[in-house]
Amino acid sequence: MFKSLIWLQEVGSTQDFVKEKDMPTETVVVANLQTRGRGRLGRSWHSSEGGLYFSFSLYCGFKDEDTLPLVMACAIADYLESIGFVPAIKWVNDLYLRGKKVCGVLVERLKDKLVVGIGINVNQNTFPEEIEATSLRIISGKTFDRVGMLLGLLNHIQESICRLSNHGFSAFRHEVERRLLFKDSEVILYTPEPVVGILQGVGLDGSLLLLTQDGLRSFRIGELSLRAL
Ligand code: BTN
Repeated sequence: MFKSLIWLQEVGSTQDFVKEKDMPTETVVVANLQTRGRGRLGRSWHSSEGGLYFSFSLYCGFKDEDTLPLVMACAIADYLESIGFVPAIKWVNDLYLRGKKVCGVLVERLKDKLVVGIGINVNQNTFPEEIEATSLRIISGKTFDRVGMLLGLLNHIQESICRLSNHGFSAFRHEVERRLLFKDSEVILYTPEPVVGILQGVGLDGSLLLLTQDGLRSFRIGELSLRAL
């Protein structure tokens, strides 16, 4: 699926690079440093040297737009588990280690393609105080080879995209729920109105299932953000 790699020392955002240049689907764009790294909901993504920041595009059905962030989070979690970490998935697009964010996934539509951007905190030693983030090095005390890591991740990503197109999101639902941060805990979901409920899991369309005062409610990805109560 991936045939070429463009590895940049510095770029505004790999996501914008792929979108502006309408890069072919087989090309992965990676950067050592991003000066305008972006996350969901217009947030910025801290992209200092030592992290792994990459984007690529793929042809994907419209119904996959909602589930792809979770499928990507699952693929990255599989890889991180294979090297000894125990990540949790924070619906809908983040991975956490020991209560702090270690990875974010951004999925955006570009005409008939979806552009996927992934940021992983790998070898950073510190983060600005206002960011609740951690890195693989902070957790493990080890330094990681980011080239080998990228190749390993791309294998897991490729396998997951094939599985999604052959079997749909149902093939991932259990894996997502097994790793779901705050599962069975009371949470607030900002829709942007706050909704309080017990996080039950995810639906077959990737939606978040909350048991609220009004019964079981499901929330699609959108302008939502989730917090523990
Ligand atoms: C989020 O947590 O909201 C998603 C963060 C996604 C960050 C990645 S880093 C590579 C790609 N380029 C960007 O500007 N953003 C994504």
